[in-house]
Amino acid sequence: PAPGWSLDADVVVVGSGVAGLTAALRCAAAGLKTVVVTKARLDDGSTRWAQGGIAAALGEGDTPEQHLDDTLVAGAGLCDEEAVRTLVTEGPDAVRRLIETGARFDAAAEGGLALTREGGHHRRRIAHAGGDATGAEISRALVDAVRERGIPTVENALVLDLLTDAQGHAAGVTLHVMGEGQHDGVGAVRAPAVVLATGGMGQVFSATTNPSVSTGDGVALALRAGAEVSDLEFVQFHPTVLFLGADAEGQQPLVSEAVRGEGAHLVDADGVRFMVGAHELAELAPRDIVAKGITRRMLEQGTEHMYLDARHFGADMWATRFPTILAACRAHGIDPVTEPIPVAPAAHYASGGVRTDLHGRTTVAGLYACGEVACTGVHGANRLASNSLLEGLVYAERIAADIAARQAADTLHARVPAPVATPEQPAHPLLPPEARFAIQRVMTEGAGVLRSAASLAQAAERLAAIHAAAAGALAEDGKTAEPGVDAWETTNLLCVARVLVAAAQRREETRGCHWREDYGTRDDAAWGRHIVVRINSDRT
Ligand code: SIN
Repeated sequence: PAPGWSLDADVVVVGSGVAGLTAALRCAAAGLKTVVVTKARLDDGSTRWAQGGIAAALGEGDTPEQHLDDTLVAGAGLCDEEAVRTLVTEGPDAVRRLIETGARFDAAAEGGLALTREGGHHRRRIAHAGGDATGAEISRALVDAVRERGIPTVENALVLDLLTDAQGHAAGVTLHVMGEGQHDGVGAVRAPAVVLATGGMGQVFSATTNPSVSTGDGVALALRAGAEVSDLEFVQFHPTVLFLGADAEGQQPLVSEAVRGEGAHLVDADGVRFMVGAHELAELAPRDIVAKGITRRMLEQGTEHMYLDARHFGADMWATRFPTILAACRAHGIDPVTEPIPVAPAAHYASGGVRTDLHGRTTVAGLYACGEVACTGVHGANRLASNSLLEGLVYAERIAADIAARQAADTLHARVPAPVATPEQPAHPLLPPEARFAIQRVMTEGAGVLRSAASLAQAAERLAAIHAAAAGALAEDGKTAEPGVDAWETTNLLCVARVLVAAAQRREETRGCHWREDYGTRDDAAWGRHIVVRINSDRT
């Protein structure tokens, strides 16, 4: 849509989780005129829900090299080693800078940071805050810092599309803003550097740990802008999400891996610890292996969930170490102090995303991506637990350094955006908001934890039919859904769902969190490579 208001900046950061706010703080500190736009409130994204913590080689005897090894193993042969090396070597200092910015992590009794373990880590290297409320503390510290430094922010601003100049260089973004006074309605922030930090796409599935705002907006924008997107088939299902019923929809309560890190056991309907003997790390195997172990045992026993048993922690430890999880369980009538917690896997994290280099640059000049929306190459086929907050930090700082270097070299000039589509002539059909539930059901049934050629083909067909109905209405009588946040979100969900399914169909092997019933093993010769997608800007 044509912008009704506009702002000018050197950098526009889209999103306000750990990646977006870190990028904004570092850009502003480098003297760049920075504006943050975010879809809901500043602290409404996934970051604030992160429980377990942030991984970095901060403990005695730990080294970036050991962190690298664990990350590469979890990534199942598809990590970019240089990207991981960058993450693990720059990680410890990035965490120290986060602490300087104001984040308060839990301290060990003997001094220094308290560190825990999670799946796939051979060492205690996960720093946490408030016991199991790490993301909330990081979000608090970063939001406070952004406010203290007076960085302009526009909340309730859903990003629509990338603006580009005549040379195809990023020139800003268009936004739909609701209820923000002078910036109400459709508008634009014009800037020669655009940082996408919009988070994930968990809402593409019926049950997810992600908040309702995680609708793949950044990946959909990047696809429409002609940027390359990679590894979308690798959706990570968190093994231990509180089971609230087979038809539970929307955001579900997470039960952090750190609970297993502190010694909780996974048991089946007969009370048997089924991960023991299945992997040398048992319950602390990498996440994809535990999710598969749970799903297999559920299929064998014909049950809808397994159990996480941590009764032996006792009431005091539950209250001090895992207060958030304790409260969430009790709110749903389960007391983990006296009974095992019913758990099942649910969609958690997009290991793939908008493809970037080591400086967070995408394949569109001037467009950067960091955090869950990005595919820097550090996660490969399965992200190592608690590497996501770290990736957001490290790569956001690298992006800020790159933009600052452009400014120092005098190459960061305002760009003149080319004209954009108008509401009278939309570039693509908008979906009616109610299609969201149909998309989520299709994805859960056909492209969930366990996939096959048949389930994926059916998903692709049903998604194509949803698209065809919207495109048909547009072509025949120029009708499209009423523009609004829900309609745009649903349109973005369909866009990412179709690409995800196409990539999952293409990858005829089982690797990391992509599990194919019909191709049960990893095939390095055929599939030791990435699926990179780039689509034309007029496709949805
Ligand atoms: C958790 O606390 O289990 C989530 C950690 C993560 O997703 O990295």
